[in-house]
Amino acid sequence: MAPVITDINPNSLKGLNKDNNNICTLEATVITGLEDIAGDECREKLGVEAVLARGRVFIDVHISQVPQVLKLRSVDNVNVVIFMVKDYNLTQTREHCFEQLYQLASSPDWDKGTMVWSEVLGYHHDPTVTTTRPLVPHTSCPPRPDIDLRSLKSTSAILVNLPDHVIPKHLRNNDNEGNNEREGDNEDSGPKILEESKGPKFRISCNRAGTTHTFGSPEAARQFGAGVNDLLGWPVALKNYDMEILLYIDTNFVYVSVCLTREPLFKRNLTHFGPTNLKATLCYNLVRLAEPVCGDVLIDPMCGGATIPMEGSLTHKGVLHIGGDNFGQAVKRSRDNIDHLINNKGKTHLLTDITRWDVTRLPLRSQAVDAVVTDLPFGKRLGTKVDNRVLYYRALVELARVTRVNTGRAVILTHDKNSMIRNIKKVHTLWKTGVSRTINLGGLSAVVYTLYRTSLLSDPTITVHYNHAVKREKQE
Ligand SMILES: C[S@@+](CC[C@H](N)C(=O)[O-])C[C@H]1O[C@@H](n2cnc3c(N)ncnc32)[C@H](O)[C@@H]1O
Repeated sequence: MAPVITDINPNSLKGLNKDNNNICTLEATVITGLEDIAGDECREKLGVEAVLARGRVFIDVHISQVPQVLKLRSVDNVNVVIFMVKDYNLTQTREHCFEQLYQLASSPDWDKGTMVWSEVLGYHHDPTVTTTRPLVPHTSCPPRPDIDLRSLKSTSAILVNLPDHVIPKHLRNNDNEGNNEREGDNEDSGPKILEESKGPKFRISCNRAGTTHTFGSPEAARQFGAGVNDLLGWPVALKNYDMEILLYIDTNFVYVSVCLTREPLFKRNLTHFGPTNLKATLCYNLVRLAEPVCGDVLIDPMCGGATIPMEGSLTHKGVLHIGGDNFGQAVKRSRDNIDHLINNKGKTHLLTDITRWDVTRLPLRSQAVDAVVTDLPFGKRLGTKVDNRVLYYRALVELARVTRVNTGRAVILTHDKNSMIRNIKKVHTLWKTGVSRTINLGGLSAVVYTLYRTSLLSDPTITVHYNHAVKREKQE
Protein backbone atom coordinates (compact mmCIF):
# COMPACT_ATOMS: atom_id res chain seq x y z
CA MET A 1 0.00 0.00 0.00
CA ALA A 2 1.38 3.41 -0.95
CA PRO A 3 2.29 5.74 1.95
CA VAL A 4 -0.15 8.39 3.12
CA ILE A 5 0.17 11.77 1.45
CA THR A 6 1.51 13.46 4.59
CA ASP A 7 4.63 11.27 4.38
CA ILE A 8 5.72 13.01 1.18
CA ASN A 9 8.70 15.29 1.35
CA PRO A 10 7.92 18.35 -0.82
CA ASN A 11 11.66 19.00 -1.19
CA SER A 12 11.99 15.77 -3.18
CA LEU A 13 9.80 17.25 -5.95
CA LYS A 14 11.97 19.32 -8.27
CA GLY A 15 9.13 20.99 -10.13
CA LEU A 16 8.05 22.76 -6.94
CA ASN A 17 11.24 24.78 -6.99
CA LYS A 18 10.40 28.04 -8.80
CA ASP A 19 13.97 28.20 -10.11
CA ASN A 20 13.45 25.00 -12.12
CA ASN A 21 11.64 26.82 -14.91
CA ASN A 22 11.35 23.89 -17.29
CA ILE A 23 10.38 21.21 -14.81
CA CYS A 24 6.91 20.91 -13.38
CA THR A 25 5.51 18.56 -10.78
CA LEU A 26 2.37 16.75 -11.86
CA GLU A 27 -0.05 14.89 -9.66
CA ALA A 28 -1.87 12.01 -11.33
CA THR A 29 -4.72 10.43 -9.43
CA VAL A 30 -5.10 6.68 -9.52
CA ILE A 31 -7.35 4.08 -7.93
CA THR A 32 -6.12 3.53 -4.38
CA GLY A 33 -4.19 0.27 -4.27
CA LEU A 34 -2.85 0.51 -7.82
CA GLU A 35 -0.37 3.37 -7.40
CA ASP A 36 2.66 1.19 -8.14
CA ILE A 37 1.24 0.21 -11.53
CA ALA A 38 0.88 3.89 -12.42
CA GLY A 39 4.46 4.34 -11.20
CA ASP A 40 5.59 1.54 -13.55
CA GLU A 41 3.80 3.14 -16.47
CA CYS A 42 5.47 6.50 -15.74
CA ARG A 43 8.88 4.82 -15.67
CA GLU A 44 8.22 2.90 -18.87
CA LYS A 45 6.64 5.69 -20.95
CA LEU A 46 8.17 8.87 -19.53
CA GLY A 47 11.41 7.61 -18.04
CA VAL A 48 10.66 9.22 -14.68
CA GLU A 49 10.42 7.83 -11.15
CA ALA A 50 7.10 8.60 -9.53
CA VAL A 51 6.67 9.45 -5.87
CA LEU A 52 3.75 7.33 -4.71
CA ALA A 53 1.13 8.41 -2.23
CA ARG A 54 -2.23 6.84 -1.49
CA GLY A 55 -4.53 7.43 -4.46
CA ARG A 56 -2.01 9.44 -6.49
CA VAL A 57 1.47 9.62 -7.90
CA PHE A 58 3.67 12.70 -8.27
CA ILE A 59 6.13 13.06 -11.11
CA ASP A 60 8.62 15.71 -12.17
CA VAL A 61 8.61 16.14 -15.92
CA HIS A 62 9.96 18.61 -18.44
CA ILE A 63 7.15 20.96 -19.40
CA SER A 64 7.29 19.67 -22.98
CA GLN A 65 6.39 16.17 -21.66
CA VAL A 66 3.04 17.21 -20.18
CA PRO A 67 1.02 16.12 -23.27
CA GLN A 68 2.58 12.65 -22.94
CA VAL A 69 1.47 12.46 -19.31
CA LEU A 70 -2.09 13.11 -20.43
CA LYS A 71 -1.81 10.03 -22.62
CA LEU A 72 -1.00 7.70 -19.72
CA ARG A 73 -3.57 4.91 -19.49
CA SER A 74 -3.43 4.14 -15.77
CA VAL A 75 -4.33 7.51 -14.27
CA ASP A 76 -7.66 9.28 -13.84
CA ASN A 77 -6.87 13.00 -13.49
CA VAL A 78 -3.75 15.07 -13.94
CA ASN A 79 -2.99 18.30 -12.07
CA VAL A 80 0.02 20.57 -12.05
CA VAL A 81 1.18 21.12 -8.48
CA ILE A 82 2.17 24.69 -7.73
CA PHE A 83 2.70 24.62 -3.99
CA MET A 84 3.21 22.01 -1.28
CA VAL A 85 4.12 22.38 2.36
CA LYS A 86 4.26 19.89 5.21
CA ASP A 87 3.96 22.04 8.31
CA TYR A 88 1.39 24.71 7.63
CA ASN A 89 -0.09 25.32 11.04
CA LEU A 90 -3.83 25.10 10.55
CA THR A 91 -4.82 24.08 14.04
CA GLN A 92 -5.32 27.51 15.55
CA THR A 93 -8.37 29.77 15.94
CA ARG A 94 -10.77 30.15 13.05
CA GLU A 95 -9.77 33.77 12.49
CA HIS A 96 -6.10 32.88 12.39
CA CYS A 97 -6.68 29.99 9.97
CA PHE A 98 -8.83 32.17 7.72
CA GLU A 99 -6.07 34.70 7.49
CA GLN A 100 -3.50 32.02 6.75
CA LEU A 101 -5.66 30.49 4.03
CA TYR A 102 -6.24 33.91 2.49
CA GLN A 103 -2.52 34.73 2.57
CA LEU A 104 -1.73 31.27 1.18
CA ALA A 105 -2.74 32.65 -2.23
CA SER A 106 0.62 34.41 -2.53
CA SER A 107 2.66 31.19 -2.15
CA PRO A 108 1.93 29.07 -5.27
CA ASP A 109 3.96 29.34 -8.44
CA TRP A 110 1.12 30.86 -10.49
CA ASP A 111 3.39 31.59 -13.46
CA LYS A 112 4.33 27.97 -13.97
CA GLY A 113 0.83 26.73 -13.21
CA THR A 114 -0.88 29.04 -15.68
CA MET A 115 1.74 28.42 -18.35
CA VAL A 116 1.25 24.63 -18.22
CA TRP A 117 -2.52 24.96 -17.85
CA SER A 118 -2.97 27.35 -20.80
CA GLU A 119 -0.79 25.16 -23.03
CA VAL A 120 -2.78 22.04 -22.21
CA LEU A 121 -6.26 23.51 -22.27
CA GLY A 122 -5.64 25.96 -25.11
CA TYR A 123 -6.61 29.07 -23.18
CA HIS A 124 -6.10 31.76 -25.77
CA HIS A 125 -6.06 34.91 -23.67
CA ASP A 126 -2.83 35.73 -21.93
CA PRO A 127 -3.19 34.39 -18.40
CA THR A 128 0.20 35.76 -17.40
CA VAL A 129 0.19 36.63 -13.78
CA THR A 130 0.64 40.33 -13.17
CA THR A 131 0.23 40.86 -9.47
CA THR A 132 -2.01 43.87 -9.23
CA ARG A 133 -2.91 43.98 -5.55
CA PRO A 134 -0.43 42.52 -3.08
CA LEU A 135 -2.34 40.92 -0.23
CA VAL A 136 -2.73 43.14 2.79
CA PRO A 137 -1.30 41.49 5.93
CA HIS A 138 -3.77 40.53 8.68
CA THR A 139 -6.65 40.36 6.23
CA SER A 140 -9.07 37.65 5.33
CA CYS A 141 -12.35 37.32 3.48
CA PRO A 142 -15.47 37.82 5.65
CA PRO A 143 -16.58 34.34 6.73
CA ARG A 144 -20.06 33.16 5.71
CA PRO A 145 -20.73 30.12 7.90
CA ASP A 146 -24.44 30.36 7.03
CA ILE A 147 -23.50 29.40 3.46
CA ASP A 148 -20.22 27.58 3.87
CA LEU A 149 -21.20 25.28 6.69
CA ARG A 150 -24.77 24.51 5.79
CA SER A 151 -23.83 21.30 3.99
CA LEU A 152 -21.83 20.08 6.98
CA LYS A 153 -22.89 16.59 8.05
CA SER A 154 -23.73 15.74 11.63
CA THR A 155 -20.91 13.19 11.47
CA SER A 156 -18.28 15.80 10.62
CA ALA A 157 -15.36 15.47 13.01
CA ILE A 158 -14.68 19.21 12.99
CA LEU A 159 -18.07 20.04 14.58
CA VAL A 160 -16.51 19.79 18.05
CA ASN A 161 -13.91 22.41 17.10
CA LEU A 162 -16.43 25.00 15.93
CA PRO A 163 -17.79 27.76 18.19
CA ASP A 164 -21.51 27.26 18.86
CA HIS A 165 -22.64 30.41 17.10
CA VAL A 166 -21.27 29.32 13.71
CA ILE A 167 -22.67 25.79 13.77
CA PRO A 168 -25.61 25.66 11.35
CA LYS A 169 -29.03 25.49 13.04
CA HIS A 170 -29.84 22.04 11.75
CA LEU A 171 -26.78 20.61 13.48
CA ARG A 172 -27.38 22.21 16.87
CA ASN A 173 -29.04 20.22 19.68
CA ASN A 174 -28.68 17.02 17.63
CA ASP A 175 -31.26 18.30 15.17
CA ASN A 176 -29.99 16.57 12.05
CA GLU A 177 -32.93 17.24 9.81
CA GLY A 178 -31.36 19.92 7.67
CA ASN A 179 -31.04 19.98 3.95
CA ASN A 180 -27.65 19.02 2.63
CA GLU A 181 -27.14 21.39 -0.25
CA ARG A 182 -23.71 21.58 -1.73
CA GLU A 183 -22.02 24.87 -1.18
CA GLY A 184 -20.16 24.69 -4.46
CA ASP A 185 -23.41 24.71 -6.42
CA ASN A 186 -24.33 28.19 -5.29
CA GLU A 187 -22.91 31.04 -7.32
CA ASP A 188 -23.48 33.46 -4.45
CA SER A 189 -21.26 31.58 -2.10
CA GLY A 190 -17.93 32.57 -3.63
CA PRO A 191 -16.02 35.76 -3.09
CA LYS A 192 -17.68 38.67 -4.87
CA ILE A 193 -16.62 38.94 -8.50
CA LEU A 194 -14.89 42.21 -9.05
CA GLU A 195 -16.18 44.29 -11.94
CA GLU A 196 -12.70 44.84 -13.33
CA SER A 197 -11.59 41.20 -12.91
CA LYS A 198 -9.63 39.87 -15.88
CA GLY A 199 -8.06 36.53 -16.61
CA PRO A 200 -9.34 32.97 -16.43
CA LYS A 201 -12.55 32.41 -14.50
CA PHE A 202 -11.60 30.08 -11.67
CA ARG A 203 -13.06 28.02 -8.91
CA ILE A 204 -11.39 26.51 -5.89
CA SER A 205 -12.27 22.96 -4.87
CA CYS A 206 -11.04 22.07 -1.41
CA ASN A 207 -10.43 18.53 -0.29
CA ARG A 208 -9.79 18.43 3.45
CA ALA A 209 -8.88 15.59 5.79
CA GLY A 210 -8.15 15.65 9.51
CA THR A 211 -10.16 16.32 12.63
CA THR A 212 -8.25 19.21 14.16
CA HIS A 213 -9.45 22.03 11.91
CA THR A 214 -11.71 24.83 13.04
CA PHE A 215 -13.07 25.44 9.54
CA GLY A 216 -14.82 23.45 6.88
CA SER A 217 -13.68 22.78 3.32
CA PRO A 218 -15.98 25.40 1.72
CA GLU A 219 -14.67 28.00 4.17
CA ALA A 220 -11.09 27.10 3.26
CA ALA A 221 -11.99 27.35 -0.43
CA ARG A 222 -13.63 30.75 0.13
CA GLN A 223 -10.64 32.20 2.01
CA PHE A 224 -8.10 30.90 -0.47
CA GLY A 225 -10.28 31.92 -3.43
CA ALA A 226 -10.64 35.43 -2.06
CA GLY A 227 -6.86 35.65 -1.77
CA VAL A 228 -6.40 34.48 -5.38
CA ASN A 229 -9.05 36.93 -6.55
CA ASP A 230 -7.41 39.83 -4.70
CA LEU A 231 -3.88 38.88 -5.67
CA LEU A 232 -4.33 38.07 -9.35
CA GLY A 233 -7.54 39.86 -10.16
CA TRP A 234 -9.02 36.72 -11.75
CA PRO A 235 -12.81 36.37 -11.56
CA VAL A 236 -14.44 33.61 -9.57
CA ALA A 237 -17.00 31.36 -11.31
CA LEU A 238 -18.22 28.30 -9.48
CA LYS A 239 -19.94 27.10 -12.64
CA ASN A 240 -18.63 27.58 -16.18
CA TYR A 241 -15.11 28.20 -14.92
CA ASP A 242 -12.01 28.07 -17.09
CA MET A 243 -9.64 26.89 -14.40
CA GLU A 244 -10.20 24.57 -11.47
CA ILE A 245 -7.74 25.10 -8.65
CA LEU A 246 -7.47 22.31 -6.11
CA LEU A 247 -6.63 22.99 -2.49
CA TYR A 248 -5.74 19.88 -0.52
CA ILE A 249 -5.44 20.05 3.25
CA ASP A 250 -4.59 17.11 5.50
CA THR A 251 -4.07 18.36 9.06
CA ASN A 252 -1.01 20.59 8.48
CA PHE A 253 -0.07 19.24 5.06
CA VAL A 254 -1.24 21.55 2.26
CA TYR A 255 -0.84 21.56 -1.46
CA VAL A 256 -2.30 23.51 -4.34
CA SER A 257 -2.65 22.28 -7.89
CA VAL A 258 -4.32 23.30 -11.13
CA CYS A 259 -6.47 20.73 -12.86
CA LEU A 260 -5.31 19.82 -16.38
CA THR A 261 -8.07 17.33 -17.21
CA ARG A 262 -11.47 18.77 -18.04
CA GLU A 263 -12.95 15.35 -17.62
CA PRO A 264 -11.40 12.26 -16.04
CA LEU A 265 -9.22 10.24 -18.38
CA PHE A 266 -11.12 7.03 -17.58
CA LYS A 267 -14.02 8.39 -19.63
CA ARG A 268 -12.92 6.89 -22.89
CA ASN A 269 -13.89 3.89 -25.02
CA LEU A 270 -17.46 3.34 -23.78
CA THR A 271 -20.54 4.54 -25.60
CA HIS A 272 -23.02 1.86 -24.54
CA PHE A 273 -23.21 1.62 -20.77
CA GLY A 274 -24.28 -1.23 -18.51
CA PRO A 275 -24.90 -1.41 -14.77
CA THR A 276 -21.39 -2.44 -13.71
CA ASN A 277 -18.91 -0.92 -16.15
CA LEU A 278 -15.33 -0.58 -14.99
CA LYS A 279 -13.32 2.57 -15.58
CA ALA A 280 -11.01 2.27 -18.57
CA THR A 281 -8.06 3.19 -16.33
CA LEU A 282 -8.82 0.29 -13.98
CA CYS A 283 -9.11 -2.06 -16.97
CA TYR A 284 -5.68 -0.94 -18.14
CA ASN A 285 -4.20 -1.59 -14.71
CA LEU A 286 -5.76 -5.06 -14.55
CA VAL A 287 -4.50 -5.99 -18.02
CA ARG A 288 -1.06 -4.70 -17.12
CA LEU A 289 -0.97 -6.93 -14.06
CA ALA A 290 -1.44 -9.94 -16.37
CA GLU A 291 1.74 -8.90 -18.26
CA PRO A 292 0.54 -9.89 -21.74
CA VAL A 293 3.15 -10.21 -24.45
CA CYS A 294 2.81 -10.18 -28.22
CA GLY A 295 1.18 -13.40 -29.43
CA ASP A 296 -0.73 -14.06 -26.20
CA VAL A 297 -4.41 -14.95 -26.07
CA LEU A 298 -6.15 -13.08 -23.27
CA ILE A 299 -9.77 -13.64 -22.32
CA ASP A 300 -12.32 -11.84 -20.20
CA PRO A 301 -14.89 -14.61 -19.74
CA MET A 302 -17.43 -12.31 -17.99
CA CYS A 303 -16.88 -9.19 -19.99
CA GLY A 304 -20.08 -7.16 -19.42
CA GLY A 305 -19.67 -4.17 -21.77
CA ALA A 306 -16.23 -5.32 -23.01
CA THR A 307 -14.37 -2.66 -21.05
CA ILE A 308 -11.39 -4.95 -20.44
CA PRO A 309 -11.04 -6.38 -23.99
CA MET A 310 -11.40 -2.89 -25.47
CA GLU A 311 -8.78 -1.23 -23.28
CA GLY A 312 -6.53 -4.29 -23.59
CA SER A 313 -6.65 -4.34 -27.38
CA LEU A 314 -6.09 -0.58 -27.57
CA THR A 315 -2.97 -0.75 -25.42
CA HIS A 316 -1.45 -4.19 -26.03
CA LYS A 317 -1.01 -4.65 -29.75
CA GLY A 318 -0.37 -8.18 -30.96
CA VAL A 319 -2.38 -9.71 -28.11
CA LEU A 320 -5.71 -11.34 -29.00
CA HIS A 321 -8.41 -10.23 -26.58
CA ILE A 322 -11.56 -12.35 -26.48
CA GLY A 323 -14.49 -11.36 -24.34
CA GLY A 324 -17.62 -13.31 -23.56
CA ASP A 325 -20.71 -13.06 -21.39
CA ASN A 326 -23.72 -15.30 -20.90
CA PHE A 327 -26.14 -12.40 -20.98
CA GLY A 328 -27.32 -11.51 -24.49
CA GLN A 329 -27.74 -7.79 -23.83
CA ALA A 330 -24.21 -7.56 -22.45
CA VAL A 331 -22.85 -9.23 -25.59
CA LYS A 332 -24.79 -6.77 -27.77
CA ARG A 333 -23.54 -3.81 -25.74
CA SER A 334 -20.00 -5.09 -26.03
CA ARG A 335 -20.27 -5.37 -29.78
CA ASP A 336 -21.79 -1.89 -30.04
CA ASN A 337 -18.94 -0.48 -27.97
CA ILE A 338 -16.30 -2.14 -30.10
CA ASP A 339 -18.06 -1.17 -33.35
CA HIS A 340 -18.06 2.43 -32.19
CA LEU A 341 -14.31 2.35 -31.61
CA ILE A 342 -13.72 0.80 -35.01
CA ASN A 343 -16.21 2.80 -37.09
CA ASN A 344 -16.21 6.18 -35.38
CA LYS A 345 -12.76 6.36 -33.87
CA GLY A 346 -10.87 4.65 -36.65
CA LYS A 347 -9.44 1.90 -34.41
CA THR A 348 -9.54 -0.63 -37.20
CA HIS A 349 -6.57 -2.58 -35.92
CA LEU A 350 -8.29 -3.85 -32.78
CA LEU A 351 -7.50 -7.53 -32.18
CA THR A 352 -10.62 -8.34 -30.25
CA ASP A 353 -13.94 -10.13 -30.51
CA ILE A 354 -16.89 -10.89 -28.30
CA THR A 355 -19.05 -13.96 -28.03
CA ARG A 356 -21.85 -15.36 -25.91
CA TRP A 357 -20.72 -18.12 -23.60
CA ASP A 358 -20.96 -19.50 -20.13
CA VAL A 359 -17.78 -19.17 -18.09
CA THR A 360 -18.41 -22.55 -16.53
CA ARG A 361 -18.44 -24.29 -19.94
CA LEU A 362 -16.21 -22.38 -22.28
CA PRO A 363 -16.17 -23.32 -25.97
CA LEU A 364 -12.37 -23.28 -25.93
CA ARG A 365 -9.80 -26.01 -26.25
CA SER A 366 -7.80 -26.93 -23.16
CA GLN A 367 -4.74 -24.72 -22.61
CA ALA A 368 -5.65 -22.31 -25.39
CA VAL A 369 -5.40 -19.21 -23.20
CA ASP A 370 -2.36 -17.38 -21.85
CA ALA A 371 -4.07 -15.02 -19.46
CA VAL A 372 -7.47 -14.29 -17.97
CA VAL A 373 -8.41 -10.80 -16.84
CA THR A 374 -11.88 -10.46 -15.48
CA ASP A 375 -14.24 -8.70 -13.12
CA LEU A 376 -16.53 -11.20 -11.40
CA PRO A 377 -20.11 -10.38 -10.40
CA PHE A 378 -19.78 -8.77 -6.98
CA GLY A 379 -23.10 -10.05 -5.70
CA LYS A 380 -24.27 -6.46 -5.21
CA ARG A 381 -25.75 -5.06 -8.39
CA LEU A 382 -25.44 -8.36 -10.22
CA GLY A 383 -26.04 -11.85 -8.85
CA THR A 384 -26.06 -12.81 -5.19
CA LYS A 385 -23.31 -13.90 -2.85
CA VAL A 386 -24.90 -17.36 -2.57
CA ASP A 387 -24.71 -17.75 -6.36
CA ASN A 388 -21.15 -16.47 -6.29
CA ARG A 389 -19.88 -19.37 -4.19
CA VAL A 390 -20.99 -21.82 -6.87
CA LEU A 391 -20.16 -19.60 -9.82
CA TYR A 392 -16.66 -18.69 -8.62
CA TYR A 393 -15.78 -22.33 -8.00
CA ARG A 394 -16.97 -23.50 -11.41
CA ALA A 395 -15.34 -20.56 -13.13
CA LEU A 396 -11.96 -21.19 -11.48
CA VAL A 397 -12.06 -24.88 -12.44
CA GLU A 398 -13.04 -24.16 -16.06
CA LEU A 399 -10.53 -21.33 -16.39
CA ALA A 400 -7.83 -23.70 -15.14
CA ARG A 401 -8.75 -26.10 -17.94
CA VAL A 402 -8.45 -23.50 -20.73
CA THR A 403 -5.36 -21.74 -19.36
CA ARG A 404 -1.85 -22.97 -20.10
CA VAL A 405 -0.18 -24.88 -17.31
CA ASN A 406 2.97 -23.32 -15.79
CA THR A 407 2.76 -19.98 -17.59
CA GLY A 408 -0.96 -19.13 -17.49
CA ARG A 409 -2.12 -16.40 -15.12
CA ALA A 410 -5.37 -14.85 -14.05
CA VAL A 411 -6.10 -11.37 -12.74
CA ILE A 412 -9.49 -11.40 -11.08
CA LEU A 413 -11.33 -8.49 -9.51
CA THR A 414 -14.12 -8.99 -7.02
CA HIS A 415 -15.74 -7.40 -4.02
CA ASP A 416 -16.97 -10.77 -2.75
CA LYS A 417 -13.77 -11.75 -0.95
CA ASN A 418 -15.34 -14.55 1.08
CA SER A 419 -16.54 -16.45 -1.98
CA MET A 420 -13.19 -15.95 -3.66
CA ILE A 421 -10.98 -16.98 -0.75
CA ARG A 422 -13.11 -20.03 -0.01
CA ASN A 423 -12.88 -21.19 -3.63
CA ILE A 424 -9.23 -20.38 -4.23
CA LYS A 425 -8.48 -22.78 -1.39
CA LYS A 426 -10.54 -25.51 -3.07
CA VAL A 427 -8.61 -25.20 -6.35
CA HIS A 428 -5.14 -24.61 -4.93
CA THR A 429 -3.73 -27.58 -6.87
CA LEU A 430 -4.61 -25.81 -10.14
CA TRP A 431 -4.06 -22.16 -9.23
CA LYS A 432 -1.24 -20.76 -7.10
CA THR A 433 -2.09 -17.45 -5.41
CA GLY A 434 0.16 -14.46 -6.04
CA VAL A 435 -0.13 -10.95 -4.65
CA SER A 436 -3.64 -9.75 -3.91
CA ARG A 437 -4.39 -6.05 -3.69
CA THR A 438 -7.19 -4.28 -1.94
CA ILE A 439 -8.45 -1.41 -4.01
CA ASN A 440 -10.98 1.32 -3.42
CA LEU A 441 -13.73 1.38 -6.02
CA GLY A 442 -15.56 4.61 -5.27
CA GLY A 443 -15.83 3.75 -1.58
CA LEU A 444 -16.36 0.02 -2.14
CA SER A 445 -13.48 -2.18 -1.08
CA ALA A 446 -12.62 -4.76 -3.73
CA VAL A 447 -9.69 -7.13 -4.19
CA VAL A 448 -7.62 -7.90 -7.26
CA TYR A 449 -6.32 -11.47 -7.07
CA THR A 450 -3.39 -12.63 -9.18
CA LEU A 451 -3.33 -16.36 -9.72
CA TYR A 452 -0.75 -18.50 -11.51
CA ARG A 453 -1.51 -21.77 -13.19
CA THR A 454 0.30 -24.68 -11.58
CA SER A 455 1.84 -27.51 -13.62
CA LEU A 456 -1.03 -29.88 -12.90
CA LEU A 457 -3.14 -30.54 -16.00
CA SER A 458 -6.22 -31.53 -14.01
CA ASP A 459 -7.05 -32.67 -10.50
CA PRO A 460 -9.35 -35.71 -10.35
CA THR A 461 -10.39 -34.74 -6.83
CA ILE A 462 -11.89 -31.51 -8.13
CA THR A 463 -15.31 -32.23 -9.54
CA VAL A 464 -18.07 -30.04 -10.87
CA HIS A 465 -21.71 -31.10 -11.06
CA TYR A 466 -23.74 -29.31 -13.68
CA ASN A 467 -27.20 -30.53 -12.79
CA HIS A 468 -27.99 -27.51 -10.59
CA ALA A 469 -27.94 -24.50 -12.85
CA VAL A 470 -26.65 -21.31 -11.26
CA LYS A 471 -29.55 -18.98 -10.63
CA ARG A 472 -28.88 -15.54 -12.03
CA GLU A 473 -30.67 -12.41 -11.09
CA LYS A 474 -30.44 -9.70 -13.67
CA GLN A 475 -31.30 -6.18 -12.70
CA GLU A 476 -30.95 -4.53 -16.05
C1 LIG B 1 -19.19 -7.44 -12.93
S1 LIG B 1 -19.89 -7.74 -14.47
C2 LIG B 1 -18.60 -7.39 -15.61
C3 LIG B 1 -18.59 -5.93 -15.97
C4 LIG B 1 -17.56 -5.59 -16.99
N1 LIG B 1 -16.22 -5.74 -16.49
C5 LIG B 1 -17.77 -4.17 -17.49
O1 LIG B 1 -16.95 -3.30 -17.15
O2 LIG B 1 -18.75 -3.90 -18.18
C6 LIG B 1 -19.92 -9.47 -14.51
C7 LIG B 1 -20.51 -10.06 -15.78
O3 LIG B 1 -20.49 -11.46 -15.64
C8 LIG B 1 -21.56 -11.96 -16.41
N2 LIG B 1 -21.82 -13.35 -16.00
C9 LIG B 1 -22.43 -13.80 -14.89
N3 LIG B 1 -22.48 -15.14 -14.89
C10 LIG B 1 -21.86 -15.55 -16.02
C11 LIG B 1 -21.56 -16.81 -16.59
N4 LIG B 1 -21.94 -17.94 -15.99
N5 LIG B 1 -20.90 -16.85 -17.76
C12 LIG B 1 -20.52 -15.70 -18.37
N6 LIG B 1 -20.77 -14.48 -17.90
C13 LIG B 1 -21.43 -14.39 -16.73
C14 LIG B 1 -22.68 -10.99 -16.14
O4 LIG B 1 -23.67 -11.04 -17.16
C15 LIG B 1 -21.94 -9.67 -16.07
O5 LIG B 1 -22.01 -9.00 -17.31
